[in-house]
Amino acid sequence: MCGIFGIITNQDISVGKIVFEGIRRLEYRGYDSCGIVSLTDSQLIVKKDSGKIDDIQKRIDLSDFPLSSKIALAHTRWATHGPPTKENSHPHLDCTSKIAVVHNGIIDNFIELREELSSNGHVFKSDTDTEVIPHLIEEFMKQNNNDLKGSLREALKKIKGSYALAACYAEDPESIIVARKESPLVIGIEEGKTTYCASDIPAFLPLTRSCYIMNDNEIAVLKSGEVEFFDRKTGQFIEKELQLIEWSIDAAEKGGYDHFMLKEIYEDPMALMRTMKISQRELSLLAHMLWSADNIYITAAGTSFYASLAGKFIITKFLGKYIHAIECSEFKNQLENSLKDNAIIIALSQSGETIDTIEAIRWAKKKKNIKIITVTNVVGSSLTRYSDKVIVTQAGPEIGVAATKTYVTQVLTLALIALEIAKLRRIETPEEIEKYYNALKSTPQIIEKFLNENVELINEIVKTLEKSVNFFFLARGISIATAKEGGLKLKEVACRFIEGYSAAHAKHGPISLVREGFPIIFVAPPDETYQRLIGNVMEFKSRGGKIISLVAEDDTKIANLSDMVIRIPQPSDKYHNIFSPITFTPALQLLAYYASISSNLDPDKPLNLSKTVTVH
Ligand code: F6R
Repeated sequence: MCGIFGIITNQDISVGKIVFEGIRRLEYRGYDSCGIVSLTDSQLIVKKDSGKIDDIQKRIDLSDFPLSSKIALAHTRWATHGPPTKENSHPHLDCTSKIAVVHNGIIDNFIELREELSSNGHVFKSDTDTEVIPHLIEEFMKQNNNDLKGSLREALKKIKGSYALAACYAEDPESIIVARKESPLVIGIEEGKTTYCASDIPAFLPLTRSCYIMNDNEIAVLKSGEVEFFDRKTGQFIEKELQLIEWSIDAAEKGGYDHFMLKEIYEDPMALMRTMKISQRELSLLAHMLWSADNIYITAAGTSFYASLAGKFIITKFLGKYIHAIECSEFKNQLENSLKDNAIIIALSQSGETIDTIEAIRWAKKKKNIKIITVTNVVGSSLTRYSDKVIVTQAGPEIGVAATKTYVTQVLTLALIALEIAKLRRIETPEEIEKYYNALKSTPQIIEKFLNENVELINEIVKTLEKSVNFFFLARGISIATAKEGGLKLKEVACRFIEGYSAAHAKHGPISLVREGFPIIFVAPPDETYQRLIGNVMEFKSRGGKIISLVAEDDTKIANLSDMVIRIPQPSDKYHNIFSPITFTPALQLLAYYASISSNLDPDKPLNLSKTVTVH
């Protein structure tokens, strides 16, 4: 839930400035507070405060450290244990102020550890779980000849919970020690010169493309331009493969756009084109797995869950088996007494770090003979470690807190699996399957055309809705997923209340809220639900609702009933309709973005949210 960044170098460079920029690139992981520690002349210098990095920078220069510093660690926080105050900001130090730690994760047994340490005379300055770590290390330093790595290993034996952490010791200017369990940690390296550690690759991408991905229960010793990995439990040396990251730096930066969210919406088409290239062999393997499973579940959180709802619909059409879609946080509660054997769980997660998704599949795997297929955007993320098969969507790094391009690539990935199933089962002729493929292949062009031609219309709609605080997003069939996802986007970034709902079900209660001018967005591709949706539009219109419809290019019926119409430039045929969650959703992403801007909000940093949710 937080971001960490560290550097150790033998070069004449400003480590303060480098970690400052590095931690800024991780601010999407939390922006309640920020802090940096650097080691100079056997002393730790700490600068930290609450608030967003740029606001803190106006008060204190976070990047200003002596040029002789060769080590620095930085942290950006999303508060869990204790409010977002200066005291609770990382880095945290031990009693001697010689050991500094930055940490992302949760120490589950911190209360017991804190009591034990306090009774041994340790004095705590914050409410955080993290602060027990430097104090525990301090305890073991005496027995370990002041060896930081050995002491950290001992400390970690006592800790229950998750962590990606980096530690340095004032008396050792030659190394940083890092450790990982269930929270992401990657190492970037410029051989012989500089080594970095970070929660995510984009943090050091402008500095190096060579990186190592750490696994759970590994410790690493970082020296200038060198790194060695060890098994935390046995202490044995681990050989690791250096990876070359091919993402463009541009993809990790804002480019020419005002916000990451806008940039990432405009990257929808490119992300889809890259994801179209997922190997046919891989997809075919997954199709076989699903075909032979007796039971199939799909689970995720937030946007990924809405992608699951759309994907479940598409897969079921070709597979002919019911797929149980269950929110990950409810997975165990709902299936405690009914989880079936010979089952497959498809887990969707952009980050691969959502703790509820990880916990759902780990619980299920312990209970039954179950295989896990993970669809994620992040290579080497925690979720992949508990999975039997992993498909990586090719959206590239997504920095905006609101998921956009990763949603369309998730749905596309599930759609590609669905078409492999169609081939396998021969329930469609090869010519028909070809038509579905062609429709899928045309999704990037449809979205690109829409984004290029409709900014003015979207802004006009935003203007007419400026004063509205409550909205319905309604649809039927597969488009309920689109309505829910579009509604979630507006909710998150433009701070409006939205009910994303079934248009038919809405008359069993929600309709009682409708008054003159109440805005209702109908998602209305011309599929088999269209005729009945016309009736629902009329029900809401006749009660004074302001109707905004999202329709296919040549629509007339629902368009004629609407106050405002958003047209998606796609043919009205069954081949395109089934993939409408991919082509219709970007319009709602754009609407949410401009609604956020017109409300003077920061769409990249919605209030109270974090990009990666690693707490239950
Ligand atoms: C919404 C959003 C969240 C995430 C959710 C799951 O825009 O981004 O709802 O979709 O927190 O995250 P992942 O997909 O990383 O598991």
